[in-house]
Amino acid sequence: MADYDFDVLVIGAGPGGYVAAIRAAQLGLKTACVESRETLGGTCLNVGCIPSKAMLHASELYQEASSGALAKFGIDISGSSLNLDQMHAEKAKAVKELTGGIEGLFRKNKVEWLKGRATFTAADTVEVAGRSVRAKNIVIATGSSVTPLPGVEVDQKVVVDSTGALALPTVPKHMVVIGGGVIGLELGSVWKRLGAEVTVVEYLDQILPGMDGDVRKEANKLFKKQGFTLRTSTKVTGVAVHGDGAKLTVEPAAGGASETIEADVVLLAIGRKPNVDGLALDKAGLELNARGQVAVDHDFRTATAGVWAIGDVTPGPMLAHKAEDEGIAVAENIAGQTGIVNHAVIPSVVYTHPEYASVGQTEEALREGGTEIKIGKFPFLANSRAKTNRDTDGFVKVIADAKTDRVLGVHIVSSLAGVLIGQAAQAMEFGATSEDIAYTCHAHPTHSEALKEAAMAVTGKPIHM
Ligand code: FAD
Ligand code: NAI
Repeated sequence: MADYDFDVLVIGAGPGGYVAAIRAAQLGLKTACVESRETLGGTCLNVGCIPSKAMLHASELYQEASSGALAKFGIDISGSSLNLDQMHAEKAKAVKELTGGIEGLFRKNKVEWLKGRATFTAADTVEVAGRSVRAKNIVIATGSSVTPLPGVEVDQKVVVDSTGALALPTVPKHMVVIGGGVIGLELGSVWKRLGAEVTVVEYLDQILPGMDGDVRKEANKLFKKQGFTLRTSTKVTGVAVHGDGAKLTVEPAAGGASETIEADVVLLAIGRKPNVDGLALDKAGLELNARGQVAVDHDFRTATAGVWAIGDVTPGPMLAHKAEDEGIAVAENIAGQTGIVNHAVIPSVVYTHPEYASVGQTEEALREGGTEIKIGKFPFLANSRAKTNRDTDGFVKVIADAKTDRVLGVHIVSSLAGVLIGQAAQAMEFGATSEDIAYTCHAHPTHSEALKEAAMAVTGKPIHM
């Protein structure tokens, strides 16, 4: 240790990096975390998961209060109005509390925050704010940022990325979203609920790529029912900003006649790319893979001994909980323990209304891979609690191995899908069969009974359908 300033130096304080730093310190390692932002928490806490969920929650409340949707429950609300500044202020408060909380955790665990940008000068040394820092282990957790679209310049006024879309000062009349993925649909939902007309332009023939086919079909139906205009199989070939609006030129993805769409605000959301600029990875002896990511092995080791990587900068889904679990595992591996992340069981959730959640494999991927499967489905239309709440959109789909009955994938569309998927993930982590779920007692009346009944439908019959 004598030659080293730290046992562990983590670059980036997002959900991957801050968790890795805290766990390393908990394990008795002298730890520092480099972060160039003014606050800790990375993309997720500052401009990602947390502010987007704050706006989704607030906009849902506004829509409930203002649309007359509560009248059927005997609740008449008149005179409700939108105070967007207050909505943004409450969101900022939640972000501040949570990012401040990480600072408190750093102090409590004696993790030193090195403020500034880290650049490798050798495999065990980085420069931060003019200081050369040497560490026995370095963890790259630099995250990701918005993928640019050539010819489309983000000015955060008319053409915004997710960060700009979380802070619009007024509700646009017409928002055009480029990309029908998670960000486009979540932030499109926020502004739709607050009064904007929203058009989603998606290159592929369906929205939500990567999700199970039945879920994508249902999403297509429900977003249209909510008034979204979905322009699938369509590509944007140019965006011309004029004064306080923009004109998009679009054409069929397969080629054909172009047309123009006018928008007040254009949200660019076509994916995210790993943050590696300025890191000087070559000084650490590292090269990027074909997708511009830092490749790692099962233990999160890079090609250079003593240099590790986790989170969005590495292959795999760009999700906060994936980064967090990798953060714990990498710290445990550095400490000589056995840190493991089961990448086959990582849930993903789209936090719109209803929510779209998934864990394990899709029906399409399993069939393509030649696995024999059995499927059980149960609609929320037949779930007593969903019916009572007048909240019946969606279904649960359980996919199990035809021979062993082991659950291979669970896909849920429901207002509570994000919570329900946790139970499915836990069952899969424990190697459950569909019968295990079907014979587990679920509380009545809850949405979770739909998961039990979908599991019953895999091998036999559900009761309520
Ligand atoms: P990041 O959170 O990106 O953190 C990396 C940090 O490293 C950044 O703070 C950056 O400033 C810092 N950094 C980079 N380079 C350097 C350097 N050279 N020196 C010093 N510091 C550096 N995921 C979910 O699971 N659920 C959600 O609901 C969700 N919602 C999202 C909503 C939006 C709008 C966006 C954009 C993303 C969302 N995500 C969500 C994705 C989630 O934010 C990321 O998967 C997660 O933040 C990745 O964590 P990370 O630690 O790998 O990187
Ligand atoms: P995404 O990958 O989810 O979706 C991008 C969409 O844009 C895809 O449907 C793609 O086909 C489409 N596309 C790509 N190029 C296009 C083009 N030129 N024209 C039209 N469409 C085009 O990426 P998104 O929404 O930007 O989100 C990035 C990542 O952030 C997600 O993959 C996810 O990992 C993370 N995230 C997670 C959330 C959650 O967990 N709830 C919420 C928000 C983001």
